[in-house]
Amino acid sequence: MTDLPKSMFATIQKFDGYSGSATGPVIDNAADWLENAEIPVPTPGPGQVLIKLRTASVNPSDIHFIKGEYGQPRVQGTPAGFEGCGDVVATGAGAEALQGQRVAFVASGSGAWAEYALTQAQMCIPLRPDISDDDGAAQIVNPLTAMAMVEIARSEGDAFVVSAATSQLGKLMCGLGRDLGLKPIAMVRRAETVELLKSHGAAEVVVTTEDDPVAKFAAISAQYKPRVFLDAVSDQLSEQVFCAMPNGARWVSYGKLSNEQPKLTQMGQLIFMNKRIEGFWLTQWMMSTPPEEQMRVVAEVQARFADGRWKTDVSAYVPLNKIISDLADALKKSDGKVIITP
Ligand SMILES: NC(=O)c1ccc[n+]([C@@H]2O[C@H](COP(=O)([O-])OP(=O)(O)OC[C@H]3O[C@@H](n4cnc5c(N)ncnc54)[C@H](OP(=O)(O)O)[C@@H]3O)[C@@H](O)[C@H]2O)c1
Repeated sequence: MTDLPKSMFATIQKFDGYSGSATGPVIDNAADWLENAEIPVPTPGPGQVLIKLRTASVNPSDIHFIKGEYGQPRVQGTPAGFEGCGDVVATGAGAEALQGQRVAFVASGSGAWAEYALTQAQMCIPLRPDISDDDGAAQIVNPLTAMAMVEIARSEGDAFVVSAATSQLGKLMCGLGRDLGLKPIAMVRRAETVELLKSHGAAEVVVTTEDDPVAKFAAISAQYKPRVFLDAVSDQLSEQVFCAMPNGARWVSYGKLSNEQPKLTQMGQLIFMNKRIEGFWLTQWMMSTPPEEQMRVVAEVQARFADGRWKTDVSAYVPLNKIISDLADALKKSDGKVIITP
């Protein structure tokens, strides 16, 4: 086992529990929620591993979480950051097989925005050597969600709708959909991203900031008949898009990028058109999907990154000790992931 230091640099949570607010995954100043600290290096218990950080991605869920607006409570004084890539440097009983391996991980014991992270062995994926550390940092949360949700779309027909399609996850889903012979219909805010989305696999692109996006979507919907709406925005426009979809449509809300609270305006569609509104959370998928199926999906994800069908677009690198000063500004660029480095 490697000689480990007693303490480490970490960016830790300032608050406990939930905040009760719903302001969305944006911050003006990381210091409102986080602070730097020198804290003890955690010791792995049974089934756990300690990981020396190489890279960590910043996902919208991290921002929801530090603000107390996510599906699990904050723990004051513990490092932030869910997802990353690093080397296993210590293991608890039962997790010895991972010692020394470079892994993608989701932190469950002590967060990824620290020199060392702690998690369960089951939350680690040993990485093929041909996967870069940047792709390794974003190998689990978005790619597994993309695989699971495009499968939902595929079960309902060949066209599906993706909102916030310029997001990393949106691009992964458009590419996967195209490769499976499906027809992704992308919703974007910025007109200049239309060609980009088409190159990523979108069959049609609707620009939501242009005149009458609902009418434009309705015309596309009448032609393609999408039955599944994979929605990360979940605002009033999403509700109108759902209302413009055909009989049997499913509105799958999996993100809350907008802080607008939508109203349901056509309840009759649920009754007479067999439409459904539901959620998707990867945590739930992991608990309900058999391990063999998860392993198949993980192997497919790595193959897609290794051969370049998928890649992680990086907009900025922020060193751990600059999160407080630089993260809020870095997140303002919307063309890729912010990657934290030690
Ligand atoms: N439920 C789950 O299990 C699960 C798992 C993974 C991810 N997610 C969710 O998936 C979504 C995408 O994640 P990601 O990591 O791919 O995001 P990302 O790469 O950080 O991209 C988010 C993009 O969404 C667009 N956007 C932001 N606010 C918006 C708004 N109010 N209306 C419309 N578009 C907006 C922006 O692009 P433009 O500036 O180009 O519009 C932004 O760059 C997030 O909501 C995340 O929480 C959910």
